Amino acid sequence: MSEDINRRDAMGIAFGACAAVGGVFALGGMKAAWDPLPSVKAAGSTLVDVSSVEENVLYTESWRGKPVFILKKSKEMIAKASKDGAARDVIIGDNRFLVCIGLCTHLGCIPAYKKDKTMFACACHGAEFDASGINTRVPAPLPMLIPPFKVDGTTLVLGEAGDAYNKMKESGLLGKVELDPKA
Ligand code: FES
Repeated sequence: MSEDINRRDAMGIAFGACAAVGGVFALGGMKAAWDPLPSVKAAGSTLVDVSSVEENVLYTESWRGKPVFILKKSKEMIAKASKDGAARDVIIGDNRFLVCIGLCTHLGCIPAYKKDKTMFACACHGAEFDASGINTRVPAPLPMLIPPFKVDGTTLVLGEAGDAYNKMKESGLLGKVELDPKA
């Protein structure tokens, strides 16, 4: 009996140690994905300098408590985009970016970016999105949502609606962005 308990204790400790090590690795991976670009937060807005952004590398910024994906498109990605996808691009200087709230429109998991396939996959229930954030596989019912933004030089201002954002909104390309007023 006490041997049994000791064995169970030892297994518990070993499992706990594995979980702790796994947790540390998971946090490490998360930190890499969340490493911010140079940014400034002010009164509900986040100013992000995108001048150092590399093509086909996903950057995640935090805005009002939500992850915002910033992805600079390569020539191949631009060529591959659908008409609606291209119309959702945020144009900054000579470059085109996907800027969207990085939450799956099914139940809100954070989709992973698959750099080699230039698409997003949601591990929760299998939804997929293209590099323009458009849903390409169920159960996601909508494209990933575009937050209010404006462009000022090489700075992306998240939280302020500029002309390009308003144009997308009129064209029905944004989806519905619901914000927590307290966030
Ligand atoms: S939350 Fe992404 S597929 Fe369900």
